[in-house]
Amino acid sequence: MKVLVTGGLGFIGSELVRQLVGQHPMTVLNVDALTYAGNMDSIGGCRSSRRHVFEHVDIRNRAALERVFREHRPDKVMHLAAESHVDRSISDPEVFIDTNVKGTHNLLEVAREYWAGLANEAKERFRVHHVSTDEVYGELGPEDPAFTEETPYAPSSPYSASKAASDHLVRAWHRTYGLPVVISNCSNNYGPYQFPEKLIPLMILNAVEGKPLPVYGRGENIRDWLYVEDHARALRHVLEHGGDGRTYNIGGRCERTNLEVVRSVCAILDELKPDPEGPYERLIRFVADRPGHDRRYAIDDTRIATELGWQPQETFESGLRKTVQWYLDNTEWVERVRSGAYRDWIKTNYGMRGES
Ligand code: NAD
Ligand code: DAU
Repeated sequence: MKVLVTGGLGFIGSELVRQLVGQHPMTVLNVDALTYAGNMDSIGGCRSSRRHVFEHVDIRNRAALERVFREHRPDKVMHLAAESHVDRSISDPEVFIDTNVKGTHNLLEVAREYWAGLANEAKERFRVHHVSTDEVYGELGPEDPAFTEETPYAPSSPYSASKAASDHLVRAWHRTYGLPVVISNCSNNYGPYQFPEKLIPLMILNAVEGKPLPVYGRGENIRDWLYVEDHARALRHVLEHGGDGRTYNIGGRCERTNLEVVRSVCAILDELKPDPEGPYERLIRFVADRPGHDRRYAIDDTRIATELGWQPQETFESGLRKTVQWYLDNTEWVERVRSGAYRDWIKTNYGMRGES
């Protein structure tokens, strides 16, 4: 079995690649453009495995994708490559449209042509799994029921609008051309190897460096947190057992306000790396809010739990502790990903916010 994974050097993609290469008799064809968010170090020993092949290819380049399909002849595709950071999409939306919408369109067209030319058994087996987000459903009020697979789309940010567009394309390619697809929409992931522009790693690293912990608005927005290993396990379930043309919501059954999350990070750090200056919470600062900031996300995971038998294994408390410990132990990885481009982004995003 050969699985083509796009975005396999990013946060979730690298976890998935490590699981597929490490635990399954499978060959992984890793297609990644190595943007600021992709890192070879994130796949560890897979780099030298005979069951891992890397193709440095941008999904915006259709000819390059055609060559990859022609040369490697994958059995299945898992599509994770995307621009993924909401704040960046607000500052500079264009690359989100290019990669998330046009890149997905390229992939669908190349996959369709390839699938059409397959012989019976291979054609039967082929599938494109599109990895998407709960943000396509928009925001919930405090008492609203959690998102189901039938919740209407109402994206708020350029990022979530671009992911919603890509989901629609995938569904249309299934309905119109019969391309075998499956879609999953997941809530907020956390864990090792997450790029430190996202809430949890940013807070861990700022805290240990004695820098302010910038909480948008009043920190009351709610996210549903899932440990990345659980997400990758869910993706494998969906790829193997999900119904053709079907959608699965994936979540952590773990709603927390941002302020609760930041306080939990501080409390763990107080234990693991006490600061002589005092508890890390003293560094929390409320800053200007994210424009269009969704108040709450929550996932109803009934479908994936009942149809596919998946449920999260990690609790937020144990997963967060592992995550904090990982960032304390992996300063070399952190330094390598925090390039000049990363430092420019921190200046752009937080320079304009000030304290509120
Ligand atoms: P990430 O930003 O950490 O990684 C994205 C990867 O895609 C990187 O390796 C990057 O180099 C690659 N990439 C970007 N543009 C590319 C292009 N044009 N061509 C080829 N490769 C390209 O993202 P992530 O957090 O790992 O998210 C992976 C996927 O999961 C995304 O589709 C995202 O929308 C979705 N998702 C993320 C979360 C989350 O909490 N992080 C939750 C639900 C869904
Ligand atoms: O819900 C799934 C989505 O989760 C994924 O589709 C996205 O790719 C992923 O980035 C994530 O989006 P969020 O915007 O929820 O994640 P982020 O880590 O950027 O922010 C989490 C919450 O924390 C959000 O409410 C904004 C807030 N925040 C974020 C940062 C970076 C802060 O308060 N301060 C910060 O400095």
